[in-house]
Parts: sequence; C-alpha cells; structure tokens
Amino acid sequence: MKVTFLGHVGMYIETKHGSVLCDPLFNSAYFGSWWTFPANDQLDFSPYVNPDYLFISHTHLDHFDEKFLREHVSKDVTVLLPDHPLGLVEKWLRKLGFVNFVQTKNAVPIDVNGLKVMIPSLVAPADGPLGDSGLCLDDGEVRIFNQNDSRPVQFEELDAFGPFDVHFLQYSGAIWYPMVYRFPQKMKDALSSKKRTTQMERALRYAKQIGAPHIVPSAGPPCFLDDALWYLNDFDRDPTNIFPDQTVFMELVAESDVDTQAHLLIPGSVMTIEPGARVATTHPMPDNEVMAIFTDKRSHLGAYKARKQPEIDAILASLPRGQVEIFLALKEWFEPLLALADQTCLGIDDTLLLELGDGGQIVIDFVNREVREWDGESPNRYVFHIDPALVEYCIINHEEDWVNYIFLSCRFEAERKGTYNEFLYSFFKLLSVERVQYAEGYYVEQHHEQQTFECAGYTIQRRCPHLKADLERFGEVEDGILTCTLHGWQFELETGKCLTSDDRKLYSKKIEPVPALTGTADGD
Ligand code: FES
Repeated sequence: MKVTFLGHVGMYIETKHGSVLCDPLFNSAYFGSWWTFPANDQLDFSPYVNPDYLFISHTHLDHFDEKFLREHVSKDVTVLLPDHPLGLVEKWLRKLGFVNFVQTKNAVPIDVNGLKVMIPSLVAPADGPLGDSGLCLDDGEVRIFNQNDSRPVQFEELDAFGPFDVHFLQYSGAIWYPMVYRFPQKMKDALSSKKRTTQMERALRYAKQIGAPHIVPSAGPPCFLDDALWYLNDFDRDPTNIFPDQTVFMELVAESDVDTQAHLLIPGSVMTIEPGARVATTHPMPDNEVMAIFTDKRSHLGAYKARKQPEIDAILASLPRGQVEIFLALKEWFEPLLALADQTCLGIDDTLLLELGDGGQIVIDFVNREVREWDGESPNRYVFHIDPALVEYCIINHEEDWVNYIFLSCRFEAERKGTYNEFLYSFFKLLSVERVQYAEGYYVEQHHEQQTFECAGYTIQRRCPHLKADLERFGEVEDGILTCTLHGWQFELETGKCLTSDDRKLYSKKIEPVPALTGTADGD
C-alpha cells in the first residue's frame, strides 16, 4: 500500500484493489481563515484526481473542499459514504455532480471489489456537522486506520478489523476555544495550555488503544494567513497555543510509554507500507528543507501569506454588507425552530446576545423562545460579537450550520458567565426543522425511558424512527397508518411496521379498554 499525503488530512491511498482519495483540501476554509499547514499550494494534484474511490469523512469545510471537488475530482469515482443520520455528505456531493455511492453501515466491514472497507461513524449533535467518521482499509496485505478528526468509540469493531499497520490521527487544535473568549489573559493562557495538553494526551490514548506500530499526526493544525488571525499560529512552540505542529506531538510520542513510531508527512510525502508493518517514507524535498518548515515557520508562512493575500482579500471583500434586515430575518428563521427545540432550550435556559455592530443587537431568548432586539440593559448570560457581514452571508445562503461557517473561522469573540454550554453551540448547527428534530430526538433518547404519547387509540413512540421528528407534532393518523409529515415516512399502527423502509419499526401498542367494574359500590 502506498499513501501520498496531500496536506491537512488529505491523502491518496493506492492499494492492491484500487485507489482512495480522502478529504482533499486545496483551498482555504471558513472565510479564508484556515489554510493547510505545511503549504500544499505548490503540489501538483493532477495524479490524484481520478481515484477509484472517494472518501469524505464529513462536511466540515476543511474536509469538504467544494471548489476542489467540483472543479477537479472525476465524477466517475465511487464514493464511500459514512453512516450519517442526515446523509449530508451524499447530498452535498450529489449537488456537485457525483453519482456513484456505496452506503456503508456504522463500523460494519464491507468488501468493495476485494478491498475491505470499514467506516466508524459518529452521529451525536456534538460530532462535527451532525456526523463525523474515519476510514479503515485492508487490501489483504496491509491495514490502515485514518481516524481523521473523529473520536470513535467502536473499539470492539476496530479491534476485530485490525491489527493496523499505520494509524493516522488528529492531535492538534481545530476549534475557536479559548482564543475568541474575552477572558482575562491569565485565565485564557491557563485554559489554552490545558487545551494544548489534553488534546495531545487524547491522541496518545487513541494511539495506545489502537496499538498500531506506526502513527502519523494529521488533520491539522491549520495555519492562519491573514493579519487578523496571524497571532493564532504556533510560531515558537508556545505552551499556551492550541495549534502545536507535528514535531511537537512526535516528541511527546517519543517520550511516552506508547509503543509506536510517529512519522512526519508533509504534502507530497509518500509512505510505502509493506506487509509486516515495514514502512518507508520519502519527502518531496531534502530533509533539511522539510525541517526548516517547522524550525523557521515564520519564513514558511510569510511566503505562503504573500502568495495567498490576494485570495484572502477577495474573499473578505465579497462578503455582503447592508443587504439584509438581520433582525427580521433571524426572527423569522429562528423562532419556529426554537418552538421545536425543547431539549435545547432547556439545556441553555438563558439568553444570548448577538452583538453585530451596525447589524444590531439581537437577543435570542431560549427561555421564552423568541428573538428580539436588545433593550440595552437586560443582562445576557452569553454574548457573541460577530461581524454582521458573516451573519448576512449565512442568512443569504441559508447556511443551516453556523459552526461550519462563523465559529470555526475564529472571526468572532465570545463572552459567557459560567461554564461552556454545548447546547448553545449545537443550536447553531440545527438551523432547519430536519436538523432540530434529529438533535431533539437524539437528546431525548439519551434519557433511559422511551417517550410515548397516545393517539388514535394507540400508545406510540414519540420520536420518528427515521430522523427522530416529534410525532406528536409531525405525525398524522389516517386509517390506522401514521404518516410522519417531516419526510413522509409511514407506519402501520397495528404492527409498528414501516411502510417506507424495511429496516425501521415504530413502537405502537393498542390501548386496551379498561374493563367495566361489576357489582355494587358496596361490594358483594
Ligand atoms: S423524521 Fe423523517 S419521516 Fe419522520
């Protein structure tokens, strides 16, 4: 097996039974914020755009490079799809013209023309954009696990697929926390240094658990090339920076008790993996030049920035300004979603102020489930300061996941009283009825008892077996058939049988009439 590293977590894998292109990333992500580190803009990608298979782990924009996929990757490829509830990878790829798909099931191995493939999929609202995944490949000689930035929990299945020869995993930061928070500097430094440590320790734990003799640090860090974000780069191995590079992690691995060897791959590096876990690596430049990327990061990024500044300027100049009535648009968009979001609103149970400069000051009230203009006085537990142009962009393009646009860009600031609230950030991934229904159902199912309601003489499972819509709101019963109006799936109440798909069932139980009491009130 031969792996050509393309940058970030992009790789082109040649196996005995065909080639797989994974998560190619050649453009910036998140409004020109994230760029591949080390730079891959001078790599000739033409040998890699006609693979047999394409694997896109999820739809975060540093994994789903829409422009590159549309303009360069052959539409004849067969896409290996993760088992994600809303099928976003497939939907997004179909829009770009991809037509051949193999749908996998979570952590279930399949044979694709001799290549054994398994995709452990993650589906919690907190997992990526409502779904993340990794890729296991076995070509009969060599087994690899591209964990990507996912946090798999399917260890039994991974053990059964392994043992792996090489494990690719994320170890560096890929989030806005805590840098965007308006915390006192001392507190921010302490939180950042904790984050830097815990994310690398988590990677070490995964390396230990998977037990591959070779690991490759990948899936980041990104680098930041425009002036506003330049400070986020870890130029000098700063213990309070959450974006340590590969060499930092490799030193940690060498000092640890994990029995594995870490390898440095840069865009264009080729790793050849022979049976018996024999690994050889070549780089596209002499070793001293490879190391200079890391030891003299300012030069590397300075030159990269000079090449990319016109692109960044064009992206920022293209943002809409003053085209949208932001308050009215958000009120119309968010209030119907808040009405559906019982668990989310309970989980937040407070207000968020969107400070949008000349775009207004808008409160999202998760208690009263309304969007209103701020009175200038009432306190808010959470505050986001966002350039209104980013919000206008999301409104105009109806982006249903602001984490994937605004928050990951790190182009905002946040304040909060108290601790982190996952429901709050997740809400901004749930900006459609379908998404909110899925997440609400997911949260409900985390409670032990399955919720039911009574309707048409039956006790019925409250959440739709398809994508968890609340059937008390979205269910309609006629002639003993329940139709979930969110996507039209139908269920026979008598049997619970799904009439739309044969792998789902609805819990439904006839309510038996209570037998009438006999005898007199005094008893016999
Ligand atoms: S959630 Fe899709 S049909 Fe019910």
